[in-house]
Amino acid sequence: MIKKIGVLTSGGDGPGMNAAIRSVVRCGIFHGLEVAGVIRGYQGLVDGEVIGLGHRSVSNIINRGGTILKTARSEDFKTEKGQNKAIETLKKHAIDALIVIGGDGTYRGAQVLYEKYQVPVIGLPGTIDNDLFGTDQTIGCKTAVHTALEAIDKVRDTAHSMERIFVIEVMGNKSGYIALEVALGAGAEDVLIPDRKFDYKSLCENIVEGNGKGKISWMIITAEGAAKAPEVAAQIHELTGLETRFVVLGHVQRGGVPLGADRILATRLGARAVDLLLQGVTGKAVGVLEDEINVVDLAMAYKRENKHVDEYLRLMKLLR
Ligand code: F6P
Repeated sequence: MIKKIGVLTSGGDGPGMNAAIRSVVRCGIFHGLEVAGVIRGYQGLVDGEVIGLGHRSVSNIINRGGTILKTARSEDFKTEKGQNKAIETLKKHAIDALIVIGGDGTYRGAQVLYEKYQVPVIGLPGTIDNDLFGTDQTIGCKTAVHTALEAIDKVRDTAHSMERIFVIEVMGNKSGYIALEVALGAGAEDVLIPDRKFDYKSLCENIVEGNGKGKISWMIITAEGAAKAPEVAAQIHELTGLETRFVVLGHVQRGGVPLGADRILATRLGARAVDLLLQGVTGKAVGVLEDEINVVDLAMAYKRENKHVDEYLRLMKLLR
């Protein structure tokens, strides 16, 4: 019988993780469970960093970016030695089950705990990349897009005023989600994403053609995993002779006050994760499909998924 659950955040943080922690803690307590927080994700599990989480310890965090539990990418947990230490930590603190919040790496870690060590575990999708299978949306992705758009709107002002081409790099090493959404929301002229081939020649041909018709400013979005902004800007300048600048938005996209959409999603998923553990369900990831809660095997969820490329983008010739 589950009496005590643990919760951790792992990998890159995302806005809304705190709302998920809060939901897990409050729902756990509602069901009469004790709740423990593991600090720094799997690294904290290896190092034995565990704190008690009461009702009040998650007050006033629903609107805060980052994660009060801190997060890390743990190399130690990938080793047998590290995993054994993690299991010792769970035993020492009498943690019967775990809820992990993070992306594909976090889910892989959870799968190890579930499959190799039979730890009851449920995963919640917490990543700005929105690239997990079994959910339309991950906690943090909407806020990240919004944050990027706010910054890009500012760049647009100067791009237009100074009649320049701007290349803007957004996050997404393997995922084109932020780049695609941002391109649509910012009204960008072009977007480069991983998994989709592009060539500078045709990119520049479009620019030269537009320039010939009197177009003088462009916004080109690139996902970090598709091409780096300085390189794209240099190529455009070389091939077109037009003045080109670049901006790398970087980690600004990971911070800030979570949008309502992320808080609400996090709260719903956190509550369901607790329910599932109490029903004896384990080795699963909880997400949302067409606004309904969706539960899939962890081993499926971490296989990642490139989200649907909106047909609108094709029609607008935004995608190459
Ligand atoms: O997974 C989220 C993410 O922000 C990716 O978009 C990005 O490639 C990566 O994390 C950056 O990781 P780090 O903060 O470790 O440099």
